[in-house]
Amino acid sequence: MKLALRADLLDFTATPSWGSPTMDGVRFRPDHWLLVDGGRIVGAGPAATLAPGPDWQRHDHRGRLLLPGFIDTHVHCPQLDVIASWGAGLLDWLETYTFPAEQRFVDPDVAADGAARFLDALLAHGTTAAVVFSTVHSAATDALFAAAQQHGMRLVTGKVLMDRHAPDGLRDDVAGAERDCEALIARWHGQGRNTYAATIRFAVTSTPEQLAMAGELGRRHAGLYMQTHVAENLDEVKWVAALFPEARSYLDVYHRAGLLHERAVLAHGIWLDAHDRALLRETGAHIAHSPSSNLFLGSGLFDWQAARDAGHRVSIASDVGGGTSLSMLRTLAEAYKVQALRGTRLNAWTALHAATRGAAEALGLAHEIGHLGTGTLADLAVWDWSHGPVAGHRDAVARGAVPGLPAQDLHARVFAWMTLGDERNLAATYVAGRLAAGSTRGP
Ligand code: GUN
Ligand code: ZN
Repeated sequence: MKLALRADLLDFTATPSWGSPTMDGVRFRPDHWLLVDGGRIVGAGPAATLAPGPDWQRHDHRGRLLLPGFIDTHVHCPQLDVIASWGAGLLDWLETYTFPAEQRFVDPDVAADGAARFLDALLAHGTTAAVVFSTVHSAATDALFAAAQQHGMRLVTGKVLMDRHAPDGLRDDVAGAERDCEALIARWHGQGRNTYAATIRFAVTSTPEQLAMAGELGRRHAGLYMQTHVAENLDEVKWVAALFPEARSYLDVYHRAGLLHERAVLAHGIWLDAHDRALLRETGAHIAHSPSSNLFLGSGLFDWQAARDAGHRVSIASDVGGGTSLSMLRTLAEAYKVQALRGTRLNAWTALHAATRGAAEALGLAHEIGHLGTGTLADLAVWDWSHGPVAGHRDAVARGAVPGLPAQDLHARVFAWMTLGDERNLAATYVAGRLAAGSTRGP
């Protein structure tokens, strides 16, 4: 199947500069055809000079922006039920809202409905790949993998490990959890685009024995990911210190269990110190920064500058249902505000890179997703530059279409799009070259 997509193409060839925006690493190709064959990107060329022949199906999105599909590196499938729940910090929020919602996923029908709704929602927000928390239930995790396989999406997920400090119906034990994980790995790990992650909720809800078992799983199975939460909330940090007095820090609890490596994704990492950041760099583990969740739950302000100075990777995540939107554009707009409160101005290139190529690199998947390079799978999202009259006017200002105001540079235009945009700007999502949400137009 040969498909040609016409749009303004934006992606990254390298890590953009921090601080003041420059065009380093930014590749912008206005009004180009992107050529997709057999689900993979095979080339691109200016619409002025390249005319795809009659054997190419054409989707003409001219005047729109086309980026690699977003990668959400930390999000909870069962928590669509509790997004936007009032009045609680992390530990209360888990008890009051989240655990009861996750208990419902013991019912296979609830789990199948939930998985379908969740993946449809990701695609409708322009997110084509994700690192996802399921629930403690094996069957619910099967449902999520099965739904992802139907979409042909790149999904990293696993059954949540919790053998203490969790309510009835959400606790496992070391031996049973190990059996469940092995069976899920045998069924799904490396099947199509599905990949398994040893999924530790957080150090509070796993015994040292369970953490050690999760570390073993990672050593036993090539390519296995590890995902968890770390240093999100000060009460949580205190609790972990009391539970693991032998550990130097919260992050060190995971290190001692052999859980930090290049496929380890740790959400939040707000309350880390310089030792922790050096450990992240040395092990290749990375932080999934979740700004809307951190603001909503009142957890704290992530220090991206310190992460950068320490040389460890940072990706961007919605963390729904602690986060308040699956939109990675909204998430990036929140990231800008968090850094502004820390006295740093995040540029749009760094932000968008962290949600595309940067995330793919942090996950070891840049050969497959995250940019528009030849040979990668055509996981793409096409966006309107604006939605509604206010954003439309702002975009006209950036383009120099408002008399008396000078045209602005590309960064200014993209920053305004990123700050004002959300899923209403989405025109179409493609997974491996197949339309997966939205619609096309043109011949
Ligand atoms: N820490 C442990 N569990 C969770 C969760 O579900 N969401 C968030 N944001 N933090 C957690
Ligand atoms: Zn989370």
